[in-house]
Amino acid sequence: MAKDFDTMEDSNRSGNPTIHEVSDPRRRIVVQGGLAALIGGALAPWLAGCASIGRGGPLLGFKAIGATSGDTLVVPDGYVAEAIAPWGEPVGIAGGMPAWKADASNSAAEQALQMGMHHDGIHYYPLDGSRRGLLAMNHEYVDDGLLHADGMKTWTADKVRKSQAAHGVSVIEIEASGSGWRVVRPSRYARRFTANTPFTVGGPAAGHALMKTAADPSGRTVLGTFNNCASGMTPWGTYLSGEENFAFYFAVGDTPDAHQRRWGLRKVATFRWPEHDERFDATRNPNEPNRFGWVVEIDPMDPSSMPVKRTALGRAAHEGAWVGVTKDGRAVVYSGEDARFEYIYKFVSRDKIAPGGAKANRELLDHGTLHVARFDADGTGRWLPLVHGQGPLTAANGFADQGEVVIKARQASDALGGTKMDRPEWLAVDQKSGEVYCTLTNNSSRGAANMPGTDAVNPRANNTMGGVIRWKDDGDFDGSTFRWSHLVLAGDPANERAEAKGNVKGDIFACPDGLMLDARGVLWIQTDAAAAQMYKGEFRNIGNNQMLACDRTTGEIRRFLTGPTNCEITGATMTPDGTTMFINIQHPGETPSERSDPAEPGRFSRWPDYAAGGRPRSATVVIRKRDGGLIGT
Ligand code: FEO
Ligand code: CA
Ligand code: CA
Repeated sequence: MAKDFDTMEDSNRSGNPTIHEVSDPRRRIVVQGGLAALIGGALAPWLAGCASIGRGGPLLGFKAIGATSGDTLVVPDGYVAEAIAPWGEPVGIAGGMPAWKADASNSAAEQALQMGMHHDGIHYYPLDGSRRGLLAMNHEYVDDGLLHADGMKTWTADKVRKSQAAHGVSVIEIEASGSGWRVVRPSRYARRFTANTPFTVGGPAAGHALMKTAADPSGRTVLGTFNNCASGMTPWGTYLSGEENFAFYFAVGDTPDAHQRRWGLRKVATFRWPEHDERFDATRNPNEPNRFGWVVEIDPMDPSSMPVKRTALGRAAHEGAWVGVTKDGRAVVYSGEDARFEYIYKFVSRDKIAPGGAKANRELLDHGTLHVARFDADGTGRWLPLVHGQGPLTAANGFADQGEVVIKARQASDALGGTKMDRPEWLAVDQKSGEVYCTLTNNSSRGAANMPGTDAVNPRANNTMGGVIRWKDDGDFDGSTFRWSHLVLAGDPANERAEAKGNVKGDIFACPDGLMLDARGVLWIQTDAAAAQMYKGEFRNIGNNQMLACDRTTGEIRRFLTGPTNCEITGATMTPDGTTMFINIQHPGETPSERSDPAEPGRFSRWPDYAAGGRPRSATVVIRKRDGGLIGT
């Protein structure tokens, strides 16, 4: 049991609802406390028809499943799971619904109208309560060995365009049918955002000299978003998506400067876009990388809306972004940077959330104060403001203005003394208790030669297993100090190495990544161990990547789902009535090597189609109880 668990768990008795309770339209819950009244105008359409979601009975009522190693998706007895919206299916844009071609011969133009590859963060937006709604979801990256019929045997401009079109975000409409859920095609909401979709820029980096390029001398219109990893949603109804490993897409040549080195830019781009798209050649367009690494905000409910890069939230290898609301109605956005020894951030909006939904809050995330977290050894911590002119963040130290502070948030955090973390991935905000949870997925470099050693919050050298931390800001979500503890250290007690044993109370797991706190209070944990690690060594008993449910009161962790071979489980969202859960299966059949072999695309997995000679496809999975009950019971 982590320290301070009990005191933190019960320390806030305000009765404020969770963020999911207040934010989902027509969610059937009883909203208590002052938050709904405070921003009731904004929330009014969301709360229409509210009733009480079922409570009572044990929090976790399902029978745990064992670890698995097969190419199937497994859920507990009494549950059903179906795959929908796999990579390559048309999203449903009227007049543009090209059919999936199983040999991966769809063109780039067709791919831009179809579900992208490598599904990741996901959120449900009700149109008709729990019967019909939108799914917004990320497509993090691609496996070019699977994306093209002959893989990367040749490398062409068309393949680059297809790769770019398979990245980004999809919005699809779905509805419950008699036997399950289906994608509604066509739908006026269906939309794709790719690596070539125009985005506007909001916040202090908009129009900054470091954001200007030859193609965009204004520094205010960026083409595209990519490596979109986790998702958060806002109380005003929009979707937040993090641009994570953007460094893999640029080539900086032999002589990167200090700024480029600090951001991990490489001589050659992993995704080989610069070979046919000069925009990604940073030797010619040195500011183009500065235009990525942002949190982007999308309004799925308005198909004509322009997506925005919210630079006030800071530039980072953002996993995603998650919102809490202060008692006086300001938005607080937490975010981690999934990279070894990088940081956790918090943005506090200047203004209060306004009644009127997305349009009334279109500039809310452009004004406020960004902070980086420092975790101290005594279980307390401090949020250090990234404000130009304060402390070391001056022109003399290379920060000309606030725009440069947010563009160089890593350097600013270095200067302030933020704590270098073990790869922070997803967060979950408990609006009711004030607790915030964050997965630290792993960091095998912790304590290695010439690398940072262990510290109180990152306590394990060669941290292969990861864990989940939590904190609670003092006072309110905008507090400048906090108290933190470990919820769980992942691992397997059968391991010999002390650092790999963990302290899991229940079913073992490794490399936590996705997190979702549901309306009943279950903390869902999803894992992302790499294919190259699985089934051997310290991972020999862990099995396929999985999703587990955590009862935060007892500390019990119970395995709920295991995925097909070499997939990652990521993204989770529920219908307002709590009876349907949507998750994503990413990269089933991932190869231990860099890319799949196009001659043998189904070598490790053929999920979910299991077609002879077929290829695996990332897809959304819809999970229900056979008796129509609440997920997790
Ligand atoms: Fe995209 Fe950090 O996982
Ligand atoms: Ca992730
Ligand atoms: Ca991960």
